[in-house]
This record gives sequence, structure tokens and C-alpha cells, in this order.
Amino acid sequence: MGRKFFVGGNWKCNGTTDDVKKIVATLNAGDLPSTDIVGNSQQYILLAEVVVSPPFVFLTHVKSELRPEIQVAAQNCWVKKGGAFTGEVSAEMLVNLGVPWVILGHSERRALLNETNEFVGDKVAYALSQGLKVIACVGETLEQREAGTTMEVVAAQTKAIADKISSWDDVVLAYEPVWAIGTGKVASPAQAQEVHAGLRKWFGEKISADVASTTRIIYGGSVSGSNCKELAGQPDVDGFLVGGASLKPEFIDIIKAAE
Ligand code: G3P
Repeated sequence: MGRKFFVGGNWKCNGTTDDVKKIVATLNAGDLPSTDIVGNSQQYILLAEVVVSPPFVFLTHVKSELRPEIQVAAQNCWVKKGGAFTGEVSAEMLVNLGVPWVILGHSERRALLNETNEFVGDKVAYALSQGLKVIACVGETLEQREAGTTMEVVAAQTKAIADKISSWDDVVLAYEPVWAIGTGKVASPAQAQEVHAGLRKWFGEKISADVASTTRIIYGGSVSGSNCKELAGQPDVDGFLVGGASLKPEFIDIIKAAE
């Protein structure tokens, strides 16, 4: 299988300069499991790929202060080349700043800003075209789950992305059931595994066996230091996209779930 464990921290719309200083200090001091030390540079090759996503206003500061093994992501970017789009941040700007990742299609943006499946697909395609790597989010609402349409919904969301891109090499797919985000109602390991396996099956049937076996599918929705190990033990859970707990020291424990 050989998919490197991936842990994203989505700080969402949170933080003051003091908060950011504390979070960065915790991350820099964290005893993170590593596979190797690169030469005598004391740069570690972490067991997990770790990407934290501060709000735009802190992004360059966090990038400059973080230990080099931890990468940063923006929480969004615009759907096309920058210009007369007040308030937006373009993919080119992120690339220019050396920001390697961007989260796209988060359910909060789909719900609050009416980001449609097609719009998310276009955003992912444009971000990739500019050289960004993408954490692409899909997930069903409680009503959709209770109606038994979970796989139908997440497959449609994933298809809308697949229809617009030619490679999944730089995409991590995040399954985030909306009913688990910020609620404390984490999906059970079996629930997460069922959807992750369904998405991997979809990749195999609709895209290729290679994309199915290499694309990391990560789980998000009330992940914590106490539930991460069992979730990480599921064969098709390749990591996490963490919200609230990524602002706390327990985020180090969640990164260690890769061990
Ligand atoms: O993007 C991750 C986020 O949606 C999960 O939030 O607070 O439930 O971990 P939280």
C-alpha cells in the first residue's frame, strides 16, 4: 500500500498573534515520530506528512516560524487567475509565497458560501494548474446519511473534481461527514472505514487501480487524541484533517497516531 500517513490541521477562523505563537511553539517542540534524520542538518523525515492551515493573515508568519518538517496550507483560494475579485486570494499568490498546499471544498464553505460541486472541481483544477497541492474535502450531511445517500453524495462530490483534473498525484481527499464536524460526534471507525473503502472502490472503478491504491483518503470530524488511534487503525484511513484539536497540544498525539 505505502501511502504516507497525512495529518492536516485546519485552524479555521481562529487565533490571535499570541495563540499562534503558542501553537507554533508546541509544534516546534513536539516529539514527532520520524523515520530518519537528513544528514547532519538535523532535519527529520517525519513518519507522517504534517500540514497546518492557519488563517490567511497568519500564513506567512507561521510558515517562517515553523520547523521545516511541517508544511502549511491555505484554507481556500480563488477559482481563477487573480484580478478584480475583492477579498479573494489567488493560487498564484500562494505559490509566490511558497505555500505548497490549499484546502478546497470544505463543507463550511459549501454550506455558508454555496460552493457547488462544480465550483469546487474548478477550484481544485485551477489550484493544481498553478502548482499547488490540494486537500479536497467531501462529506454528507446528517439528513443525507439518514436517507442512506452517503456514498451517492460523496461520489458525486468526488466525481465533480475528477471530471476537471487529469492527475490525483497532488490531491489528498478528505472525507469529513458534516454531522461530525465540530460536534464531538466522531464517526465510528467502522463508519469511517465504510466510506473510505467506498471512495477507494470508486477510484478503482472510475479512475484507475493506481489512483485507488496511491491516493490518500483522510478522515475529518471531531478527531481527538483519544479517538485517533482506533480510526488510524482502519485500512483505508490514511490520516486526518483536524479542526478544533489542531489548536491544542493534543494535535501532537494525533500526529503520533501514525506510529
Ligand atoms: O477541516 C477539519 C474540520 O472540518 C474538522 O473539525 O473541529 O470537528 O475536528 P473538527
